[in-house]
Amino acid sequence: MTVVDAARFEEVERYLAALLVPRDAALERAVESAAAAGLPPHQVSPLEGRLLYLLARIHGARRILEVGTLGGYSTMWLARALPPDGSIVTIEAEPGRAELARANVASAGLGGVVDVRTGAALEVLPTLDGPFDLVFLDADKPNNPAYLEWALKLVARGSLIVADNVVRDGAIADVSTADPSARGIRRFLEMIAAEPRLEATAVQTVGGKGHDGFALALVVA
Ligand code: DHB
Ligand code: MG
Repeated sequence: MTVVDAARFEEVERYLAALLVPRDAALERAVESAAAAGLPPHQVSPLEGRLLYLLARIHGARRILEVGTLGGYSTMWLARALPPDGSIVTIEAEPGRAELARANVASAGLGGVVDVRTGAALEVLPTLDGPFDLVFLDADKPNNPAYLEWALKLVARGSLIVADNVVRDGAIADVSTADPSARGIRRFLEMIAAEPRLEATAVQTVGGKGHDGFALALVVA
């Protein structure tokens, strides 16, 4: 295989994003406000946000659940994919981040479809009523196995579960990794593999966010 370096991946990412991702002032402001507030730059990239948006459109998602809001960037991408009667619930543990996400969502005119719940996801999830037809998991990775258990209670046949950060710079390929996030993702992927209700795959991503990936799981029963 040709060896391609990180600079090349980023060059390709810039080219593709400039070509395929329409400029959106509200989304760009959301990234800027998150950086200004000192949030870690962990939101999905524009190309990845566009992928989430397209998945929701392809799926015809009407009720979306997101675990891990951060500043609301992926929330806004998913909300933009909803039909007029659609809605998205997004859970954020840190009140300051939840407030920022609410402000970003409101300034994009999406306040009416986005419900930002403040609290630890494992406390908020039991209070929700399903089914959701798309679930996006993007919170603290050690808890991903527990989030998957809740997701399975809150979906129905035909729902789609998407998870961010399932590669972690390759750490998940290390069977003896001590990294709690990589361990959480490995357990999460093993649970998916063993779950007869799910058919799944994962795609690796490269670029400005490093070497990472998404898992996609369709609820088939
Ligand atoms: C981390 C979390 C994310 O959701 C992400 O996309 C990248 C990094 C993290 O906690 O390190
Ligand atoms: Mg993420």
